[in-house]
Amino acid sequence: MDIRDIVYSSSIRFILAGGKGGVGKTSCAGAMAILSAKHGYRTLVLSTDPAHSLSDSFDQNLSGGNEVSIEGVDNLWGLEINTEKGMAEFQSAMGSGGMGSEGAMAAQLMGDMAGMSPPGSDEAMAFGKMLEYLEDSSYDRVIFDTAPTGHTLKLLELPDLLDSWMGKLLTMRQRMSSMMAGLKGMFGGAEQEDNSWQMMQLMKDKIRAARIDLSDPELTQFVVILIPEAMAVFETQRLMHSLDKWKIPVSNVVVNHLVPPNPTCKFCDARRQMQQTNLKDIRDLYSDLSLTEVPLFEGELRGIENLEKLGRILIGEMEE
Ligand SMILES: Nc1ncnc2c1ncn2[C@@H]1O[C@H](COP(=O)(O)OP(=O)(O)O)[C@@H](O)[C@H]1O
Ligand SMILES: [Mg+2]
Repeated sequence: MDIRDIVYSSSIRFILAGGKGGVGKTSCAGAMAILSAKHGYRTLVLSTDPAHSLSDSFDQNLSGGNEVSIEGVDNLWGLEINTEKGMAEFQSAMGSGGMGSEGAMAAQLMGDMAGMSPPGSDEAMAFGKMLEYLEDSSYDRVIFDTAPTGHTLKLLELPDLLDSWMGKLLTMRQRMSSMMAGLKGMFGGAEQEDNSWQMMQLMKDKIRAARIDLSDPELTQFVVILIPEAMAVFETQRLMHSLDKWKIPVSNVVVNHLVPPNPTCKFCDARRQMQQTNLKDIRDLYSDLSLTEVPLFEGELRGIENLEKLGRILIGEMEE
């Protein structure tokens, strides 16, 4: 399955673009989104990367909190998740006794319970939004411009983590039930405890449902983007390992920023040499995946026209 198959597929609903910071996630997400929309699919391109660049890439403000119709491309909407605003909403909802978003709650739980480094609240907000759009059927396709190295997706592990914790709590609860019965009158919080138990169950169910969609290769494809430099190669290997663990289908790797040959420029040629060595490693490492090579553009890769040009390269219609 190459990128052309993915963007023109009638079954794929979710495309995730991911990789190290600065490698071209936003550009590729934007380019695939334009291809998808022009093919006739109602498409939303959604940035869940706290370091947003979608607005800059499309040269249009997409940070207002609602999906914005992209000028110049029919069928295409864009949105950068405003994590700060989302967090404020969550806090005020919690303050007034509301439930808030699953994502933000997930972050707290992970921090409080798991003893592992908790993801940032912005990542949890992004994850909550992601769950929301996985359930939303008003688009034929949602393209996610994700945070570097899939950090947000780590929250997919939460249900298992909660299961083990809830299991332990349940055993403890049963063991202590007679004692609890005796002490019942002393605590007024029993009802609240049951409520939070339900909330956790609800959140687990939602995340599990998302995992089913995200692990179905007919429905979801993660496109990994990297540049031919050792540091990006290392980080990509870690990303691939995580995606494998979370069972998220990957069939494509985009190698971006390739410097073309130029015998008159010593500097360019040295960089090209370095890149070609890494490119060979990338080809060896991912020989079972479809590899797309993208050259470094002469000018800045920005705006619809350039994104369309990148799109043509991604689907193999243009060399450069
Ligand atoms: N093939 C390319 N040629 C030239 N510039 C590129 C290319 N791919 C990406 N860029 C530029 O590199 C920068 C980072 O790309 P971006 O798509 O924002 O990466 P990310 O979202 O992974 O941080 C942007 O300024 C973008 O315009
Ligand atoms: Mg970006």
